[in-house]
Amino acid sequence: MKKFYVTTPIYYVNGKPHIGHAYTTFAADILSRYHRMRGYDSFFLAGTDENAQKNVESAEEKKQSTEEYVNEMSALWQETWDNLSIINNDFIRTTEERHKAAVKEFFERVYKTGDIYKGTYEGFYCEGCEAFIKESDLVDGKCPDHKKKPKKIKEENYFFKLSKYRDELLGYIDKNPDFIQPKSRRNEIISYIKNYMEDISISRESMEWGIPVPSDEEHVLYVWFDALINYLTGVGFGKDNKQFKKYWPADVQLVGKDIIKFHCALWPAMLISAGLPLPKKVFAHGFFTINGEKISKSLGNAIDPVDLVNKYGIDAVRYYLFREIPFGEDGDFADYRLNVRYETDLANGLGNLTARILSMAEKYFKGKVPAEVPGRVEHFWKKYEKEFENFEFNEALATAWDLIRECDLLIDREQPWVLAKQDPEKLPGIIYTLLETLRHIAWMVYPFMPAAAEKILSQLGVEELEKIEDFKQIKKWGGMIEGTKVKKGDILFPRLEK
Ligand code: MSP
Repeated sequence: MKKFYVTTPIYYVNGKPHIGHAYTTFAADILSRYHRMRGYDSFFLAGTDENAQKNVESAEEKKQSTEEYVNEMSALWQETWDNLSIINNDFIRTTEERHKAAVKEFFERVYKTGDIYKGTYEGFYCEGCEAFIKESDLVDGKCPDHKKKPKKIKEENYFFKLSKYRDELLGYIDKNPDFIQPKSRRNEIISYIKNYMEDISISRESMEWGIPVPSDEEHVLYVWFDALINYLTGVGFGKDNKQFKKYWPADVQLVGKDIIKFHCALWPAMLISAGLPLPKKVFAHGFFTINGEKISKSLGNAIDPVDLVNKYGIDAVRYYLFREIPFGEDGDFADYRLNVRYETDLANGLGNLTARILSMAEKYFKGKVPAEVPGRVEHFWKKYEKEFENFEFNEALATAWDLIRECDLLIDREQPWVLAKQDPEKLPGIIYTLLETLRHIAWMVYPFMPAAAEKILSQLGVEELEKIEDFKQIKKWGGMIEGTKVKKGDILFPRLEK
């Protein structure tokens, strides 16, 4: 069985999840479900980044111990993903023993390569970014992203020889044009590696919270150095070699565009140094804004995905985010657009079509599937798969909606209620075509809106969804078997309360 390994960034726990975090996590869930539908052994890793200084500060504000605070917050993040229909295979916390062991093993490999040396760091550190920041990048003395003054630091640190890997990284990016996507991000990284990349401090002397540097326990590791390793820990690095060999390298690492330098320069260099293969692809998506401003915990304008879901339902929120904003680009979040999408595409579109088809099957054929007639959907599937390959989620959904439109047109053209009276022999073929096309629509929609898809499939008499792993069978025309019982269910997308 082919494997698929997808990761999301592990989030800081200094606040609760907002819609931007949910976006990345939904995208990974969509990819993972899509691959599972295609019969892959898919592994989706999520997690929390707990060794950051900002977590310590949030704990202090709450008058809690850091440990108590991160435990509570990590549980909240896990619970949120569960409540949003996210099916991750594992959840990694960087305070776990298994992670500390993996970090130790990784550090030792890099140390042996001779890529770690001691030096003095003098400069600025932005806790919002959890990164060292150059004086020349400050705007009015503040970090341009977090709008806060960074801390001035002078201390003994361990450094990682990042600059040593300049040529090797550029060579890899050149030979693997799909490694960094979208293309605009690739160009940004090439320019960074060529012109700005320097050795990086990977330890802090003055901190207590974090993973101790294995060779010198007076220091703790820089949080990014430890955090990136989570992608290895999550699939058994240093513990379960069989699992690790099976899943690593990752097929897709999803990140927001704000953290690509870490994922496309530091991370691959760390892996080369440790003698490990590089991820096949890093895909950077864009940012949501609200009225043009970045949504973030530190700016205090976050949208809670749970509030949205309470109003619209999980499926509708997932649908809106991936239909409305091309993956990889920035987008403005607008509640009224979600409303419009809900009413037009979901309630009046998919929901209404499902109800109409099932009603007709019940009315004219007592809920039994009529005899199969020929039909063609291959080219829709081909298009859909190509779009998935290119991360064009909005287009893949549009393809499913093309099929919805075909059904609506067929109903309008043939008017089954007229046929029933005037040309009843034609009716079974039309109803078969509609039922079978609806089955294909449900599967195309499944990675995005799992609950709605499952409801439609169950109305169509397709049960035991999880056991279906034969993608060829799913895509083939003729999946609806004559005589199968179908049954209209509850309304899929009820009208919203005004
Ligand atoms: N802990 C690091 C990641 C370490 S991965 C080894 C981190 N965490 S974070 O909590 O700040 O989350 C960052 C990620 O959240 C972004 O890269 C992005 O995926 C997502 N987003 C945060 N705000 C976002 C928007 N406003 N819009 C879209 N995505 C956003 O960085």
